[in-house]
Amino acid sequence: MTATLTIAQVSDIHIAEKAELQNNVDMRQQFLAVLTALKAYPLDLLVLSGDLALLAGEIPAYQWIKQQLIDFPIPYVIMAGNHDNLNNLIEVFNVPEQDLVGHALCYARQLKGRTLLFLDTAPYRLSDAQQVWLQKQLAKTSEPVLVFMHHPPALCGCQFMDTRHSLQNIEEVWPILANAPNVQHIFCGHYHTGRDCERDGKYIHITPSTMLQIDTESSEFVVASRDAGWRLIEWSETGQVKTEVFYL
Ligand SMILES: [Fe+2]
Repeated sequence: MTATLTIAQVSDIHIAEKAELQNNVDMRQQFLAVLTALKAYPLDLLVLSGDLALLAGEIPAYQWIKQQLIDFPIPYVIMAGNHDNLNNLIEVFNVPEQDLVGHALCYARQLKGRTLLFLDTAPYRLSDAQQVWLQKQLAKTSEPVLVFMHHPPALCGCQFMDTRHSLQNIEEVWPILANAPNVQHIFCGHYHTGRDCERDGKYIHITPSTMLQIDTESSEFVVASRDAGWRLIEWSETGQVKTEVFYL
């Protein structure tokens, strides 16, 4: 490791096909405001961790996002969420074949000597092929890796999302992560809240949405706030990972 690796995670931006308000939120304006705020940080990478589209991976939404990022000074990667469409992501963002595992957007990146793994849980599951891939990737190195996935791989004390919208094969996925000595930090979105949960000595970091946050105490869908949030991740040269959530 040669220097601090600094990553911004931006999640659940939910851009609609046309400029419109949903739940009294201007998603385009909130996403752009976050991008502006990010310019103040010495970032190495921007991670868009799924649910780029409002509902079902609309191509005009992806085209708009891509356009906004053309002049963004930092490289970015995209992930798929349950409101995305893989074929449309591939088409608009020119996803290369090597970033796919089966029909899933699943890939590794090396940055400043560190390994980052990006998984695809868009169908509410981590596919069997990705489970095999993940185990192979984790076995390749004894060095620490960071894992990014849209759905948290365990329940996280968020009533509505845990009950109605959690990952469907936690019982298959969690043991892979829990038993990997080189996984300490897992970065997720999907739950529309900012939260850090400890499970089996690992940290599951949930990054808030740039659209709106969901109340974690209610068993029904209740908007907790319309503040756009995002996460900063700093992986120092000594190996320490520090992370913090910010709201505009
Ligand atoms: Fe989601």
